[in-house]
Amino acid sequence: MPPVLSIEDLSVEYRTREGPIRALRHATLSLERGQILALVGESGSGKTTLGLSILRILPRSASITSGRVLYQRRDIGELSRDELQQIRGDQISMIFQDPIAGLNPIISVGDQVQEVITSHRPVEKREARELALDALAQMRLPDPARIAKAFPGELSGGMCQRIMIAIATALDPQILIADEPTSSLDVTVQAQILYELERLRDERGTAILLITHDMGVVAQIAERVAVVYAGAIAEIDEIRPLFRTPRHPYTWSLLDTLPRLDRRRISRLPQIPGAPPDLADIGEHCPFLPRCPKALTRCREDEEPQLLSLSDSSAHHAVACYNPVEAIPST
Ligand SMILES: Nc1ncnc2c1ncn2[C@@H]1O[C@H](COP(=O)(O)OP(=O)(O)OP(=O)(O)O)[C@@H](O)[C@H]1O
Ligand SMILES: [Mg+2]
Repeated sequence: MPPVLSIEDLSVEYRTREGPIRALRHATLSLERGQILALVGESGSGKTTLGLSILRILPRSASITSGRVLYQRRDIGELSRDELQQIRGDQISMIFQDPIAGLNPIISVGDQVQEVITSHRPVEKREARELALDALAQMRLPDPARIAKAFPGELSGGMCQRIMIAIATALDPQILIADEPTSSLDVTVQAQILYELERLRDERGTAILLITHDMGVVAQIAERVAVVYAGAIAEIDEIRPLFRTPRHPYTWSLLDTLPRLDRRRISRLPQIPGAPPDLADIGEHCPFLPRCPKALTRCREDEEPQLLSLSDSSAHHAVACYNPVEAIPST
């Protein structure tokens, strides 16, 4: 089956007074039906920018400077405004990073769920109300009828997050982009929300692009992982081989500092000496060069390496590095 979403060579720049910020550079990845792909990287590495560019909801100061996004083989950039509007919230939807921006404080929860339904489906008010209650019940909110009447301020953070997922999935989208869906929640509630995302994948075949900087979240539910560094994908692979034999020195540093036996318990990205580069001044070489323990002369001389497939144990492994860490043969 072809991927439900393909991102090809996508680059995004923000215009600022100080000059352009190259927030995303030549990103390529694909997402299959029923798959959870985690996009993991430090703050400011371009994760949200990638999510927003799929739905073409980037701020005005941003422009897509290369590449394209294909949804079911159709180029999203070539759709009309109406076509895009139809796809948003219906076939591709997003849970936003900022929980406050996600819900309207002065509209009841039920009305907010109904709104997304009536804006995409020709249904009567009563039917929309029932569908909204269904969507809330799907997220296993207790007493959906009561919750529907409540305003976001009256509910807990975990409940608001369930409501946002209910809104994002009310119309059974093919793709859900979940931008840090659990980072504002405490650990128990986090686990419950991750469980709901897994259930969506299992029961409805929803493809999920899970944006996070939490390796614990990645280890718990992702099948594939794309590691982003300074606006570019450094490495992409299925979760097990990536955790077992990371090839990019950045991925390697991230994982090497983590406890080996139980990587499920790790959470925040570990600190690596040095800092990521300024995206306003990214240069032409590999962005990890100043922090890289394996840099060669070539890395200082040549252009930034492209993300290339590796012919190793896993079919979907690709890395952007001239001197990848050697794969340790598994014994
Ligand atoms: N509206 C904007 N105008 C200018 N620069 C921006 C804008 N939005 C983001 N950026 C810059 O683009 C880069 C990527 O930002 P982005 O929000 O995509 O990162 P992120 O990986 O989602 O970070 P975080 O983990 O903190 O959410 C950062 O350097 C950021 O400062
Ligand atoms: Mg972000």
